Amino acid sequence: MQLLKEKIMTEGKVIGGDILKVDGFLNHQMDIHLFNEMGKEFKRRFQYKEINKILTIESSGIGIACITAQYFDVPVVFAKKHPGANMSKDVYQSQVYSFTKKQYYSIKVSREFVNSHDKILIIDDFLANGNAVKGLVDICNQAGAKVQGVGIAIEKGFQKGGSVIEDLGLRLESLAVIEGFADGKVILR
Ligand code: G4P
Repeated sequence: MQLLKEKIMTEGKVIGGDILKVDGFLNHQMDIHLFNEMGKEFKRRFQYKEINKILTIESSGIGIACITAQYFDVPVVFAKKHPGANMSKDVYQSQVYSFTKKQYYSIKVSREFVNSHDKILIIDDFLANGNAVKGLVDICNQAGAKVQGVGIAIEKGFQKGGSVIEDLGLRLESLAVIEGFADGKVILR
């Protein structure tokens, strides 16, 4: 998607050799015009799929998922990493390995909000190793919900997330794919 690619090239910063910092439009300040265009594009790419719910994970997936949901006219459910005291105890949960933090954390979704009638589109901001998406798919499987596809804003094509999702037999649509970083610059596919 051209607009996202331009944003990455003009405003993204490569840090530590393998991380793309996009705090100015995606991960901290959010560019709502861009989000709106991303939502429209996800709708275009998944227009022939029956989708009645969007599932994402806190925190950065939520904004994109909500704006995308307006184009599908469906609710958004987000998996919680930090369930508050008032969260239902009746939950589906999955363990997710964080490559950056080198530890497992658990994600939870109340059984009330995902069920066997659901046809789900998973949305997230980044796809790196695919562990967060794998956890969301696991929760859908526990609930008997059908995953209709995975929509990602920025895929790091040099990490294994894309093949992880392909191996699960799921359709993946990434709006921008990074081939790699060279001399502090982003190389886009
Ligand atoms: P994975 O889910 O694809 O396996 O991701 P991984 O464990 O490798 O990364 C952990 C976190 O770092 C995830 O966010 C992921 O979205 C994010 N991340 C990975 N690579 C990059 C990158 O190059 N740039 C940026 N900006 N983020 C990256 P998270 O911990 O779930 O955080 P958040 O959703 O609360 O922001």
